[in-house]
Amino acid sequence: MKNIAIFASGAGSNAQKIIDHFKQSDKARVTVIVCNKPGAGVLQIAEREGITSILIEKEAFLHSDKYIQLLKEQKIDLVVLAGFLWKIPANLVQAFPNRIINIHPALLPKFGGKGMYGHFVHEAVIAAGEKESGITIHFVNEKYDDGETILQERIIITPEDTPESVARKVQALEHQWFPVIVERLLTSSES
Ligand code: GAR
Repeated sequence: MKNIAIFASGAGSNAQKIIDHFKQSDKARVTVIVCNKPGAGVLQIAEREGITSILIEKEAFLHSDKYIQLLKEQKIDLVVLAGFLWKIPANLVQAFPNRIINIHPALLPKFGGKGMYGHFVHEAVIAAGEKESGITIHFVNEKYDDGETILQERIIITPEDTPESVARKVQALEHQWFPVIVERLLTSSES
């Protein structure tokens, strides 16, 4: 049985989809939810689902091995960032080489980087007059939204679209693809 850690700070809809996907699985399970925001919806999901949640302290996250040790103790095979907005420190990236993935609600390298998350991304996409957007699932390195792409899927933007309608279309793609890619990565590796 492989162990997944989900890092999330928002409503947690992607976390919920991944939890549901693996509920009946004998291959993997969501073992821990790591969150940096007290009161985030994802913490309620963790509680309801009976999954351990950890609220992280910024200082220890950025300047110690505390959370690396914790993830190792839990025998985590894959760290999944699902709406987690802090940059992952180098020591954590190095402790889980090619074992940390992120989902971004646009077609990177466009509309990525610090401060580009959630509705800010969709507002920028509409403001730029883009004809398409989508999702990028990628490996995480020490820079924001920069690691090797695993999957991109696209939506078409029509003249009637608003940031809200684009957000809905992109979210549907996230929910469709993120659990599938998590499973693919876990089952294609023997580590
Ligand atoms: C998702 O749309 C994800 O792509 C985005 O946060 C949302 C979390 O939603 N992540 C970023 O923007 C990262 N730069 P959720 O809490 O409902 O899963």
